[in-house]
Amino acid sequence: MILSPSILAADFSKIEQEISELDSYNVEWVHLDVMDGEFVPATTFNHELVEKLRPLTKMFFDVHLMIVNPRAQIEKYVNAGADLITFHYEAVEDNLELINYIKSFGVKVGISIKPATPVESIKHLLPYLDLVLIMSVEPGKGGQSFMPNALPKIEELKKYDLLVEVDGGVNETTGKQCIDAGADVLVAGSFVFKNKENIKVLNNLDR
Ligand code: DX5
Ligand code: ZN
Repeated sequence: MILSPSILAADFSKIEQEISELDSYNVEWVHLDVMDGEFVPATTFNHELVEKLRPLTKMFFDVHLMIVNPRAQIEKYVNAGADLITFHYEAVEDNLELINYIKSFGVKVGISIKPATPVESIKHLLPYLDLVLIMSVEPGKGGQSFMPNALPKIEELKKYDLLVEVDGGVNETTGKQCIDAGADVLVAGSFVFKNKENIKVLNNLDR
């Protein structure tokens, strides 16, 4: 299991320190939640933060774009240092074209589905994807409760040759449920940033 802490819950007034603390816990991935105030009501940060953080760490940059028209922004995130770019199925018309476009930059590509979007709607895209990000909360903010309808989606997707990532409301209990269902990557924001020792708690669920 890979843990991808979401810095949405970090203290941005000392973000450099937050990143180095994640490094000191040997975290391999970091999850970067980009919100544009259109696809979701909130606005967070853009590629400039990714660019600022890139020299600070070797962690794998897992960029989650909750934005409309992601195609127009891809190159900026690639140049800023993204390793994986995940966009929302619901935000794009020609999903396959965008998958191929992202791959053409040599970065990994993922698609995210909101809680109400069934796995069925992305079945035809699965052979082209490195990862599927299952939202277990309504995208838009941290600190919400895990929606159990994510679990059968994980079970369905684990049959395919791609990484299955779960995002929203992950803690000790729901994280265990996701791992048992077959999740490969767990995103956790508030649970990790309220106490970084929870990184160990989540890593130990995998044993
Ligand atoms: C929600 C974001 C999540 C969020 C998770 O829209 O995509 O990554 O930060 O936060 P928690 O773990 O607090 O639910
Ligand atoms: Zn996210």
